[in-house]
Amino acid sequence: MPMGFPVAGFESGLGYRAAPGDIFVATYPKCGTTWMQYIVWLLVRGRSLGADDRLTELFPHLEEVGADTIGTLPQPRLIKTHLSASLVPWNTDAKYVWVVRNPFDCAVSFFHHTRGFVHHYDFADGTFDDFFECFIEGRVDFGDYFDHLLSWYARKDEANVLFVTYEAMHADARSVIVDVATFLGGTALETAEDAARVDWIAAETSFGSMRRDQRRWSSERPPGMPDFVRKGGIGDWRSCFSPEQAARLVEAFERRTAGTGAAALWPEILAEARRYAYGA
Ligand code: A3P
Repeated sequence: MPMGFPVAGFESGLGYRAAPGDIFVATYPKCGTTWMQYIVWLLVRGRSLGADDRLTELFPHLEEVGADTIGTLPQPRLIKTHLSASLVPWNTDAKYVWVVRNPFDCAVSFFHHTRGFVHHYDFADGTFDDFFECFIEGRVDFGDYFDHLLSWYARKDEANVLFVTYEAMHADARSVIVDVATFLGGTALETAEDAARVDWIAAETSFGSMRRDQRRWSSERPPGMPDFVRKGGIGDWRSCFSPEQAARLVEAFERRTAGTGAAALWPEILAEARRYAYGA
């Protein structure tokens, strides 16, 4: 857990009883949580966030705020979580939008996040090399990337789980918005059939738009630290990874996903990482 999160919130969050109608956005950190939260927010609540709104209050993080705060949310409750599928409160009549991102870009994004949140981490001067050792050993907030990936992957075909990749959002956000609207049903379904509303949500949740008024999603960063909505996209991992680090993460990916469908995720990124690592 981030050191700024109260332990009581975590314990209470674990004990939350998920209710029919609850909508969870479930991710490992830095995999597009906030982007998906804002899509879900717009689909369900139908209004954009103003500069003084705070997504963390309107769509809170379960294991930060605990069950009581979640219980006060209006229906349907919109809940963020980084818990693995084995720990997350489960209800077959709740919905879980699960977003994953390739581990290379995730690690780099997580590194910048850890540098920038100076009140949560003592890592402002940390290097990527330091962070990489923590990441590959699973000694980072919310634990090991692959444990999280595999726990959710095992549930991805359940009727109340929608599996989305950050890379698919990046390739075609409109299609993902329609998929999420269809999955959520209810009033969100009207958006799935309304091209102008899909356009509006795509514009509101575009990278450029979400870079504005970042206090809507994040506490302010000290000068010189990376923004929360930082760079976006795919492939920034090469700015930080050495070939040797890429080889180690490729090996971890292959070893940990072997024998599961997750091994087939991100074939192009894995191929590129192998080329970068081995020069082949
Ligand atoms: P980078 O650090 O690679 O830029 P999370 O919300 O899970 O913490 O994920 C944060 C990552 O999602 C950051 O990645 C951030 O820039 C990216 N992101 C946030 N909003 C985005 C958007 N609208 N489009 C593309 N990427 C977005």
